[in-house]
Amino acid sequence: MWNPTVSLALVVVSSIYAASATLHSQESKEGVLGAYDEKWISDPYYPSPWMNPQADGWEDAYMKAKDFVSQLNLLEKVNLTTGVGWENGPCVGNTGSVLRLGFKGFCNQDSPQGIRFADYVSAFTSGQLTAATFDRSLIYDRGHAMANEHKGKGITMQLGPVAGPLGRIPEGGRIWEGFAPDPVLTGIAIAETIKGIQDAGIVASAKHYIGNEQERFRQVSESADHGYNISETLSSNIDDKTLHELYLWPFADAVRAGVGSILCSYTQINNSYGCQNSKTLNNILKGELGFQGFVVSDWAGHQSGVSSALAGMDMSMPGDTAFDTGLSYFGANLTIALLNGTVPEWRLDDMAMRIMAAYFKVGNRIEDQPDVNFNSWTYDTYGYKYAYGSEDYEQVNGHVDVRGDHARLIREIAAKGTVLLKNNDGLPLKTPKFVAVVGEDAGPSLYGPNGCADRGCDNGTLAMGWGSGTSEFPYLITPDSAIQNQVLSYGGRYESVLDNWAEDSILTLVSKPEVTCIVFGNADSGEGFITVDGNWGDRNNLTLWRNADQVIQKVSSSCSNTIVVLHTVGPVLLTEWYNHPNITAIVWAGLPGQESGNSLVDILWGKVNPAGRSPFTWARQREDYGTDILYEPNNGNGPPQQAYSEGVYIDYRHFDKAGIDPIFEFGHGLSYTTFNYSNIRVIKRNVTKYEPTVGLTIKAPTFGNFSLNLSDYALPDAYPYPTAYIYPYLNNTSSLEAASMDPEYGRRDFIPPHAYESSPQPLLPAGDRSTSGGNRLLYEIMYEVIATITNTGDVAGDEVAQLYVALGGDNPPVQLRDFDRIHIKPGESATFSGSINRRDLSNWDVVSQNWVISDEPKKVFIGSSSRKLHLSAVLH
Ligand SMILES: *[C@@H]1O[C@H](CO)[C@@H](O)[C@H](O)[C@H]1NC(C)=O
Ligand SMILES: *[C@@H]1O[C@H](CO)[C@@H](O)[C@H](O)[C@H]1NC(C)=O
Ligand SMILES: *[C@@H]1O[C@H](CO)[C@@H](O)[C@H](O)[C@H]1NC(C)=O
Ligand SMILES: *[C@@H]1O[C@H](CO)[C@@H](O)[C@H](O)[C@H]1NC(C)=O
Ligand SMILES: *[C@@H]1O[C@H](CO)[C@@H](O)[C@H](O)[C@H]1NC(C)=O
Ligand SMILES: *[C@@H]1O[C@H](CO)[C@@H](O)[C@H](O)[C@H]1NC(C)=O
Ligand SMILES: *[C@@H]1O[C@H](CO)[C@@H](O)[C@H](O)[C@H]1NC(C)=O
Ligand SMILES: *[C@@H]1O[C@H](CO)[C@@H](O)[C@H](O)[C@H]1NC(C)=O
Ligand SMILES: *[C@@H]1O[C@H](CO)[C@@H](O)[C@H](O)[C@H]1NC(C)=O
Ligand SMILES: *[C@@H]1O[C@H](CO)[C@@H](O)[C@H](O)[C@H]1NC(C)=O
Repeated sequence: MWNPTVSLALVVVSSIYAASATLHSQESKEGVLGAYDEKWISDPYYPSPWMNPQADGWEDAYMKAKDFVSQLNLLEKVNLTTGVGWENGPCVGNTGSVLRLGFKGFCNQDSPQGIRFADYVSAFTSGQLTAATFDRSLIYDRGHAMANEHKGKGITMQLGPVAGPLGRIPEGGRIWEGFAPDPVLTGIAIAETIKGIQDAGIVASAKHYIGNEQERFRQVSESADHGYNISETLSSNIDDKTLHELYLWPFADAVRAGVGSILCSYTQINNSYGCQNSKTLNNILKGELGFQGFVVSDWAGHQSGVSSALAGMDMSMPGDTAFDTGLSYFGANLTIALLNGTVPEWRLDDMAMRIMAAYFKVGNRIEDQPDVNFNSWTYDTYGYKYAYGSEDYEQVNGHVDVRGDHARLIREIAAKGTVLLKNNDGLPLKTPKFVAVVGEDAGPSLYGPNGCADRGCDNGTLAMGWGSGTSEFPYLITPDSAIQNQVLSYGGRYESVLDNWAEDSILTLVSKPEVTCIVFGNADSGEGFITVDGNWGDRNNLTLWRNADQVIQKVSSSCSNTIVVLHTVGPVLLTEWYNHPNITAIVWAGLPGQESGNSLVDILWGKVNPAGRSPFTWARQREDYGTDILYEPNNGNGPPQQAYSEGVYIDYRHFDKAGIDPIFEFGHGLSYTTFNYSNIRVIKRNVTKYEPTVGLTIKAPTFGNFSLNLSDYALPDAYPYPTAYIYPYLNNTSSLEAASMDPEYGRRDFIPPHAYESSPQPLLPAGDRSTSGGNRLLYEIMYEVIATITNTGDVAGDEVAQLYVALGGDNPPVQLRDFDRIHIKPGESATFSGSINRRDLSNWDVVSQNWVISDEPKKVFIGSSSRKLHLSAVLH
């Protein structure tokens, strides 16, 4: 039975749009949810905050959006909000158009590391390896280069960058798509990437908002394919403080950077779906963070019509209720919801305005909107315009080469992100007489670099994970070929054995006199729609794949100069061998993309002096991380419940607090030179007093009105109807009920209290009247911290100086707050200057719903990793 003591909140925001108020669905709701702690519900928050046309940086975009949207009729506005259906256009997501005014619609395309499903594109480094550069300008450049490629293909929006997963769980399948389990490194990286993307005229879509930390159980149908019968997707149960201090932090930076779009996730947050959670979308994203762009659903993450619109979702992707049903929660249903008054007109205007403001904000002009010149569903020159139904055969691919000179940048980022974990005089190499390379991960895949769809296998050298976060390799420089070229260039001798099970050949090779051995290993993961070697997206373990641990141990027991190179999607356990005396160096090269071998040679031979820093902690044993994948449902048939009970203590925050020694800590990385840190100085800035924001928003803007004559919404006679295409038109104009085709039409409309209010609403204390990302005073710099860094070695090199704070009380012992990558010549010194703003010193106070600086004494540290904190000072 429905338990009447459970707050209305559960009903309002729950997943079955259900949600709704009829007693019938309340009862069934309890049935499907199963048993879970009633504390994990999401409070309702309505009305959905509307645009602020005066928001800093958005004024011009909103002016242009208003000019455009004011001319639109109801159907045209709905068209902007809804995709035309899966595989019914050239891109992975295509909205309707407004052809009358020359607007061709949005082309939304994967991925965060390059363009998916297109040819003559570049395969960039993973977000994670890019973060390891700790280099803001390289991070920006990568975003810019990726977006220039998108532009050249006619794409409007790039589906990235990623801050969810943040990396709560090292086995999490997609953590390589994002940056790092540190909110500040991820926040800086996501902001720089967004600026790079949007400066090239492409809308960025920061994803997956929020609490999307594992692949298992993210979808009901995917879970069913694996034999799990769950009624709803996994719920990430996150308390308010942890959400703000950890998972929301980088999204706040994304919003502050002016991101045009945020993509909501498949998972639930406190048992309410990510794409209709009024707490996370209305309250936190659009209210507190003042997000002015639009919320787009993850593909088929849209679960309801009226509920999701009222909860703040703006664009349905790819538009259909499930792939290729031909039905939509938006489309005709949204037209109907406006006509029957269930969704207020201002909300649709807000959706259309947000979408077009994002379009204009990045510099687009409708008059020069390019045509899309590729097709996601075939690499052939000719194919179907509507791939799903194989209709309208025409030229669909222009094979436009958009790569420019990005190879150079990719090589630079891969080399500069590569982390030298251990070095006992193994590196740099000079002109070793005889180099032996061992391991499948050094060589090519027998099936070619694109041999498996969406890179869904682990063959040959690993340069990308699998899933939608991939692109097609234009080529892949293997370590085997690049190292051979290098060795031959100075007249050396070279041999490689690329079969990880060829024990005898390996032993024979590495036992030869005067040999330098380079042995490779990898570990792969990816998105949950593909399973590789039993790994359903998330990794099953933290060891190397394909026998590589055995190979490394074999080689090191016979070769006194063994260099280990790792291509992995995250941490792996090195415990068995990292300390082996014959292992003279260990290099983590992450997922380097197309220039893999070249960038590695740059590091091994010292053309680039390594300065990459580990963007995560390397534990001795899996249990040390304190978090893990939920591998089995824990709530009967109800939504699996994932408790984020560790709070903010993930990765190094956890190791430091629990006193666990890792093998290599977050931020660790060696160089071919040495640096000395000295002379820390703290400069206190004169700051204004922190004031909670008060006052009211404007009232909900709304433009034009619409006819109630149903025949005005009929599909025009002349229009084609490709199979399973989604239009905003009504097929049946006899009644709205008939047109809706919803068996529950009119019966489950529970309208949450306040959802229709359009009068000025209170601003939130942690929000701001006009800046995006929260109260502007949060970003006021309070201290500058300066130190001198001297290159005390013989070669020039980069040093990544890291600034940490200790906030005292129940806070992580140290937390990264700023960093800089500085190039210093031997014998010379440079000044590192880091800054600390108000947010950096604050905790989220759940009572005042604001950031507060505690009375605990605070310290700062400057060092070369999270545990090599060479200098410290007290903050007064
Ligand atoms: C989830 O529930 C926790 C515990 O009640 C609460 O602190 C938090 O604010 C909720 N978050 C959301 C997004 O509903
Ligand atoms: C909606 O978009 C579709 C697909 O681009 C287009 O054919 C149709 O004309 C658009 N409808 C309106 C009313 O603009
Ligand atoms: C899944 O579980 C539900 C609820 O227990 C049950 O009604 C349904 O028959 C099950 N489906 C399958 C395919 O086992
Ligand atoms: C409208 O949405 C309902 C579900 O809410 C669905 O059953 C129906 O098929 C949809 N109608 C159209 C025309 O897509
Ligand atoms: C390719 O990789 C898959 C797993 O990713 C493995 O099962 C298969 O044996 C590999 N094939 C070759 C030829 O190495
Ligand atoms: C870990 O998983 C990989 C990939 O499935 C597998 O090759 C390896 O043997 C596993 N390790 C252990 C210790 O089972
Ligand atoms: C190191 O390599 C040498 C061969 O050069 C071998 O004799 C020795 O046993 C190895 N050391 C260990 C600890 O395996
Ligand atoms: C700090 O700023 C306040 C307000 O702007 C001003 O009154 C005060 O003189 C300043 N103090 C210093 C030390 O600059
Ligand atoms: C609307 O009508 C077209 C043309 O008859 C048909 O192909 C399409 O499936 C219909 N759509 C819906 C949602 O009924
Ligand atoms: C209004 O239309 C929407 C979309 O078809 C539908 O879900 C809802 O039940 C309708 N409400 C009423 C009161 O007719």
